[in-house]
Amino acid sequence: MTEQLPPGPRGRLLRGNRPDYEADRLGFLLRCHEDYGDIWSFDDSTVVIGAPDAVHEILGRTNGDYLAEVNFFAGGFADGGFVDGGDMAGAAHLAEVWMTARRKVSRGFHRKVVTAHAGRLIGMLDERLERTAGRPVDVQPLMANISGCMVADFCFGGEGAELVETVDSLVAAGTSIVSAARILPRWLPVARHRRFVSARRELKAQFGEIIEQRRARPAPDSPRDLLDVLLAAPDLSPHQIQELLRVTLLASHGVPGAALAWCVRELSFRPDIRLRIEVEAEAWEAREAPPELSELPYTEAFVKEILRAYPPTWLLGRTARRRVRIGEWTLPPGHEIMFSPYLVHRDPRWWNEPGKIDPQRWLGEKVPHTPHAYFPFGAGPRVCLGAHLGMMQLTLVTSWLVRHYEIDVEEPGTVPANGSALLAPRALRASFAVRDHTATASPH
Ligand code: HEM
Repeated sequence: MTEQLPPGPRGRLLRGNRPDYEADRLGFLLRCHEDYGDIWSFDDSTVVIGAPDAVHEILGRTNGDYLAEVNFFAGGFADGGFVDGGDMAGAAHLAEVWMTARRKVSRGFHRKVVTAHAGRLIGMLDERLERTAGRPVDVQPLMANISGCMVADFCFGGEGAELVETVDSLVAAGTSIVSAARILPRWLPVARHRRFVSARRELKAQFGEIIEQRRARPAPDSPRDLLDVLLAAPDLSPHQIQELLRVTLLASHGVPGAALAWCVRELSFRPDIRLRIEVEAEAWEAREAPPELSELPYTEAFVKEILRAYPPTWLLGRTARRRVRIGEWTLPPGHEIMFSPYLVHRDPRWWNEPGKIDPQRWLGEKVPHTPHAYFPFGAGPRVCLGAHLGMMQLTLVTSWLVRHYEIDVEEPGTVPANGSALLAPRALRASFAVRDHTATASPH
């Protein structure tokens, strides 16, 4: 065992690796991975890990030896804000608070609620696409908006649509605070803090109104959305209900939308995949409810492949809570550990032909990768709560888009990946025109 840190690029004088990383995040990580292997130091307090087993072990030991980057309900989150790192003991306590809350919110992700939401999904998608009037639009913001509407619908049914803009403003304001060159004390009334407080206040008021109206109506026999489930829970205060809804909306913000934008781009290159998805989409015909995922195996495999090649949450992190050992290295408490599903999902040691989009690889008898080499939804105690929901949304939407829309993508080959918070195609433009044979086909 050695007490030294793993080697890594030295970077520039005074500024280290940050400028090269910021200039091209994906490219920088790929280059360093090639030069330094499966564990290397980004700087004095951060290592990057590329081996699936080590990543899996760290994710599995989250809340124990490691703490997740984001502690929901932590610091500002308790009143709707973002997290201040805080001290280690405080962060561990907040992780426990979140895990208790997580168990409560997870009740809302059960089958009945997901099925009820699936039944509303396509009507909402058609309505959003109709607004583009068949004109070319920037795909990523459109899909981000559709994704926001999907999650709002899952949480609040048809009553959630108005929240989407407020959630967007809250996230934009929060991002401008955490990514500012200088983090200022929260109480300073600078513009970005004021924008954040105002969006937070607005969201609280909107939540309050929807919840009050819902409470005034008799409870349904079967829950239709997350709010129905949370209101029926005897052990949740109104404040906790609001917090759980807010966390769900913020944690998933834009994520399915980034994957949908990649689906649109890849489908434009691949008539062979489009054709197979279209044939499978016959499962929609002559029925009221959307098909089950088991009826759309190829489409689901395509979505898995998109989440492999373009995992929206492409960079995850943990903090060592105590002294930890990773391979031959020992890291001190407080050390940051980063790992990227993007790197692992594209590593030829764990996958055959990782550069190729091949849905078929998921349809064989064997898992198409080395154990633990696929984790678009994370893993361990903080694995994505919406993994099943997200797969369902992406599969149904992809199936519906292929069958019912003529999608004309402008120059898809020139679109770079934007690896900022989420991995998404930058400036991808496309038009969505309803195909003739389906002009009146939506059953919703
Ligand atoms: C394509 C779709 C999605 C992908 C790829 C995705 C990915 C992820 C990943 C990688 C994490 C773990 C982050 C970490 O370990 O640090 C996560 C956490 C989370 N996701 Fe998702 N997500 C998706 C959709 C959703 C949806 C639709 C919802 C809810 C409506 C959701 C709710 C959450 C929540 C609440 C967490 C936090 C869990 C915790 O920390 O305990 N996600 N997601």
